[in-house]
Amino acid sequence: MAERTLVLVKPDGVQRGLAGEVISRLERRGLKLVGMKLMQVSDDLARQHYGEHVDRPFFGGLVSFITSSPIVAMVWEANNAVEIVRNTMGQTNPVSSAAGTIRGDLGIDIGRNLVHGSDSPESAEREVNLFFRPEEILSYERAVDSWINE
Ligand code: RTP
Ligand code: MG
Repeated sequence: MAERTLVLVKPDGVQRGLAGEVISRLERRGLKLVGMKLMQVSDDLARQHYGEHVDRPFFGGLVSFITSSPIVAMVWEANNAVEIVRNTMGQTNPVSSAAGTIRGDLGIDIGRNLVHGSDSPESAEREVNLFFRPEEILSYERAVDSWINE
């Protein structure tokens, strides 16, 4: 099975009407969408999701921001999905994100960087399981698959 990764359109992205833009960029890149929902993140889920940052000074702000308004949570599939999504998103801080990336084209502030993408296959598995039940992730064929992957 191809690799899976968790992508979140964070509250700033949904509020700014950029969820479709994010989805569109990942679709055009060629990744396959296998799970998606609009949801309100609970305090508990936010703390689990950002657990690695618990001791950082920005942790409180991160949790209050991600729980402040709905997000779009998605699972995308491809060979090397984690790395491809990270490259499509751009650097964490939009100030240094390359033009042509989601953050480089659409953001200017590290605390409003629009999207989350898992940072390793291990994180991806953990995060996909946090946000999705197994039956919410679909397996299906696309007629175009052989035009995207050799
Ligand atoms: P993400 O988890 O959202 O995909 O972003 P990332 O891997 O590129 O960045 P990470 O280091 O995991 O940080 C998670 C989010 O915390 C905010 N942040 N603020 N003020 C700061 O120094 C700072 N550092 C990170 C960012 O919104 C980042 O996306
Ligand atoms: Mg991260």
